[in-house]
Amino acid sequence: MKRYTLITGASTGIGRHLAVDFAASGDNLVLVARSGGKLEELAVELRSRHGVEVLVCQQDLGRPDAPSKVLDFCAGAGLEIDRLVNCAGFSVAGDFANMPEGELYQMAMVNMVSLAAMTRLFLPGMVSRRRGAVVNIASLAAFQGVPGMAYYSGTKAFVVRLTEGLTSELRGTGVRIFAVCPGFIDTDGFYDRAGHDRSRIVTPISSPSVVVRAVRRGLDSGEIAVMPTLFDRLMVFTQRLMPRRLVVMLAGFFAGAEEKKRS
Ligand SMILES: NC(=O)c1ccc[n+]([C@@H]2O[C@H](COP(=O)([O-])OP(=O)(O)OC[C@H]3O[C@@H](n4cnc5c(N)ncnc54)[C@H](OP(=O)(O)O)[C@@H]3O)[C@@H](O)[C@H]2O)c1
Repeated sequence: MKRYTLITGASTGIGRHLAVDFAASGDNLVLVARSGGKLEELAVELRSRHGVEVLVCQQDLGRPDAPSKVLDFCAGAGLEIDRLVNCAGFSVAGDFANMPEGELYQMAMVNMVSLAAMTRLFLPGMVSRRRGAVVNIASLAAFQGVPGMAYYSGTKAFVVRLTEGLTSELRGTGVRIFAVCPGFIDTDGFYDRAGHDRSRIVTPISSPSVVVRAVRRGLDSGEIAVMPTLFDRLMVFTQRLMPRRLVVMLAGFFAGAEEKKRS
């Protein structure tokens, strides 16, 4: 059986950068997202440039049956998934009271339920082979509620807590799991989808390459939650020294996603 790395959310942004990096290291890939055309284009490029096998599995992870369809796709093609990178996700900027109900369920499905289901479905194979890794792309937003991104920060806190618990369950199995927690990253799709005005973000916006390096670091270390930059680590560390209300207020100020208050 051939061994593969499966990346969700590989059509754009961070997931696409991770796909390029893994292919450059010789990994065969399964790419998952809704935009089949973009995935096919990327697959053609990676096969010709790096000589790796790349399969495309077009799925909407907002649908409850999508994770089992991805598993069936891999089993049908006779693939062993050695690494699962759960990267698909999105945010919606603005006040929670105005958030469309549909977005509430879609974000829960994509950011939490599908991520958990993919992990649940692909872990048993890794555990039985006694090797593998699950990489969950969370966010710095996981460490405090972020005004203007309150629900999103809640979904990412779920990702970090799920990952933390599983690190202990997986001890001694040969399978590694960790979360990567980036601050703001320069991917247009994320802000467009969220309706988030990037010019209001006060903290630095890093290149996706910092997330790629953080994933590599996570694969080579025992860290549970990997912060890509020194700034990210400082943000998480210094909040331990501050009153919680101040942490939340600062997070809202830095993110600039809250709706402007009417006087
Ligand atoms: N950019 C940031 O500042 C930042 C910071 C911290 C964490 N993150 C996290 O990093 C991850 C990637 O974000 P990004 O910045 O790279 O955003 P992006 O460029 O918008 O990419 C999001 C990816 O998720 C996929 N996706 C979204 N909804 C999906 C669905 N229903 N089914 C299947 N795939 C879906 C998209 O593919 P399709 O549209 O083709 O389906 C796309 O490939 C997300 O989990 C995000 O929360 C981002």
